[in-house]
Amino acid sequence: MIEITTLSELTIDGKLSLGPEASSKGLFDFYGDDLRTWFHAQRASNDAIMVGSGTVVADDPELTVRHASGPNPLRVIPSSSAKLPLDAKLLNDGLPTIVAVSRTAEHADVAALAAKRNVEVLACGERSVDLAALMDILEGRGVKTMIVEGGSRLLHSLHQLGLVNRIIIKHIPVITGSTQAPSYMYPNEPGGAFDLTRWRLVDCFSKSGVAVTIYESRTVRA
Ligand SMILES: NC(=O)c1ccc[n+]([C@@H]2O[C@H](COP(=O)([O-])OP(=O)(O)OC[C@H]3O[C@@H](n4cnc5c(N)ncnc54)[C@H](OP(=O)(O)O)[C@@H]3O)[C@@H](O)[C@H]2O)c1
Repeated sequence: MIEITTLSELTIDGKLSLGPEASSKGLFDFYGDDLRTWFHAQRASNDAIMVGSGTVVADDPELTVRHASGPNPLRVIPSSSAKLPLDAKLLNDGLPTIVAVSRTAEHADVAALAAKRNVEVLACGERSVDLAALMDILEGRGVKTMIVEGGSRLLHSLHQLGLVNRIIIKHIPVITGSTQAPSYMYPNEPGGAFDLTRWRLVDCFSKSGVAVTIYESRTVRA
C-alpha cells in the first residue's frame, strides 16, 4: 500500500481557502519562509504528489520543490472528465505528470492532455477515477509514498476509502467568516458520510506563528 499523507492549510474556522472561489494561495500570505521551506521539504520526501482537478482550476499549482532542496515528486492529478485547463502550469513545464481519467472521458480531451510534453494519461475507473485502483497502478510503478495537498472533494474520497495514513495540518491563524469556503471534508459528497475515525497526535510545533499538527492512523508503517 502507498503510504499517503495529506497536507493542508486550515483556517481557525476550518476552511481551506478564504472564500468559495478563492485560491488557497491566499493563505500563503499568513506565513513565512521557515514554514514554506519545511513544507516543500515534505514534498521532496515523497515519491508522488496529488491534488484534484478542482485545485488545478482554483490554484493553478506547480507542485514542485522550490523552497527546499530535493527531488520533485511525480505529480498525479485525478480528473474524471479530462477537462483540465490546458494552460495549467503543471501541464506545461515539461516535468513528469500523470493525469488519471475515467473511461468515459471524451477522446478529444484525453488527446489534448496526452499531447503535452511529459504528461501521461491513465484511464482508471468507469465514470469517476477509481482512486484505490490508481494507487495500485502507482505502487506497481514504484511509488511508495504520496503527499496529497487537497482539495476538499479529493480529501473526502481518500478518507472515505480509508487510504490516508498521516494528516498534516498547518493552522492558519485567521477566521474567514465565509460559510461557503471549502472545508477539509466536502459536505455534499455523493458517496455520503462515513464512520468516525480516531487519529493519534504524533507531533505539534509552530513555525512563523503557525501551529503544525501531525496525526497518524494506527496503520502507518514504522
Ligand atoms: N488549504 C489547502 O491546503 C488547500 C489545498 C488544495 C486546495 N484547496 C482549495 O480547495 C478548493 C478545491 O477543492 P475541490 O473539492 O473543488 O477540488 P479537488 O478536491 O482538488 O478536486 C476535486 C475534483 O477532482 C476530480 N476527481 C476525480 N476523481 C475523483 C475522486 N475519486 N474523488 C474526488 N475527486 C475526484 C473531480 O473532478 P472531475 O470532474 O474532473 O473528475 C472532483 O470534482 C479550492 O478552493 C482550493 O483553493 C485548499
